[in-house]
Amino acid sequence: MHFMNHFEKYMRSKKLPFSKEKIEEITAKYPTPFHIYDEKGMLAYARHFIESFSWNEGFKEYYAIKAAPNPYLMKLLHKQDFGIDCSSLAELVLAEKVGLRGEEIMFTSNDTPAEEYKKAIELGAIINLDDISHIDYIEKNVGIPELVCFRYNPGALKGGNTIIGNPEDSKYGFTREQLFEGYKKLMDKGVTRFGIHTMVASNELDADYFVETAEIIFDTIVDLHKELGIKFEFANLGGGIGIPYKSEHNPVDLKRVSDGIKASYQNHIVGNGLAPLKIFFESGRAITGPFGFLVAKVLHLKETYKKYVGLDASMHNLMRPAMYGAYHHVTVLGKEEQPHNSIYDVTGSLCENNDKFAINRLLPKIDVGDLVVIHDAGAHGHSMGFNYNGKLRSAELLLRENGEVVQIRRAETINDYFATVDFKGVASFE
Ligand SMILES: Cc1ncc(COP(=O)(O)O)c(C=O)c1O
Repeated sequence: MHFMNHFEKYMRSKKLPFSKEKIEEITAKYPTPFHIYDEKGMLAYARHFIESFSWNEGFKEYYAIKAAPNPYLMKLLHKQDFGIDCSSLAELVLAEKVGLRGEEIMFTSNDTPAEEYKKAIELGAIINLDDISHIDYIEKNVGIPELVCFRYNPGALKGGNTIIGNPEDSKYGFTREQLFEGYKKLMDKGVTRFGIHTMVASNELDADYFVETAEIIFDTIVDLHKELGIKFEFANLGGGIGIPYKSEHNPVDLKRVSDGIKASYQNHIVGNGLAPLKIFFESGRAITGPFGFLVAKVLHLKETYKKYVGLDASMHNLMRPAMYGAYHHVTVLGKEEQPHNSIYDVTGSLCENNDKFAINRLLPKIDVGDLVVIHDAGAHGHSMGFNYNGKLRSAELLLRENGEVVQIRRAETINDYFATVDFKGVASFE
């Protein structure tokens, strides 16, 4: 298939969009560690995503900005007609600063403070409520907008997966009964425009899972129409499209997802006179994940009961391996073709024993000073960064389509780290 061939070099073969020489040239200006994003790969995938759903008028992908909240990346995606999915005040402000407005912004939050609803409504964002009690909360604090969406948690109707867990155990969304009660309540309050949302998967690679989810939502739309007479404007099927972190995984076949959803749409939506219905997604990981790389340098080699490679990056640059035991492919630049016959734990420097990017990984023989690339770090990577042990968050770079490299976020400095502490106050404090 054309798509598979086109993206294989990133997603499966774990080939890199840059050479060792290019990284050496970059490190002369920007010291390691840093994240670098590949514009060409990201935009090719973004276009492919939109084209896959071109049958659906009004289709929109609201990029889940939490995956990599960088305004430069968002600006590139907005040019491809992507909207933005925000879940906090800072993400709404980022959307505003990049120039997104109105229904280009979806606000999917939970346990939401009133000031965040206020900002979202000020920007004209689509408000997606996570709980029935928020109807009164938003009415009291800000006022109810004309377009409202609810997040549906289908509970036992849908099996979960390992990252997001079972829907019944998840804190998100309305039950089916609450949907009926909630939409009725909105109608009584004069709301005229409606959407429905669900997000039941995370890092899911099975195309059929997304088709099943669409089917559950379409069925629910039909039932809500029958009972309340509501005509929905859109169904947001959430994010959760997985990426092949391991080279033996297959990327999600978007054509298969789209064809399956289209068949279900014809059957349930068109068949019941409920078309047009816009399909939305709010994917994060699939859009930037495979196109971002964490580049680090080997600082130390250590041999005790095991062999350790100590990098100048730590789990504060990418916490997925430490948090979920997630696999991230590792390439030692310039040693791709050497025999991978040394077993290492690849570590960072935090005072946390789980600060490891890889455990018992077969790699080529490593030397101090080697440059190491950790793959698929473009989503939930830099954005999950933190400052434990006073570690500073690293820079983000963009490899442009023309080969130029642009710094899209500088590294934190020690002054940034201490900016919230008043040392004059400390000096006079007894
Ligand atoms: C509400 C919501 N939408 C979208 C996403 C993006 O998910 P992914 O990056 O897996 O596509 C998330 C991820 O946590 C989410 O919570």
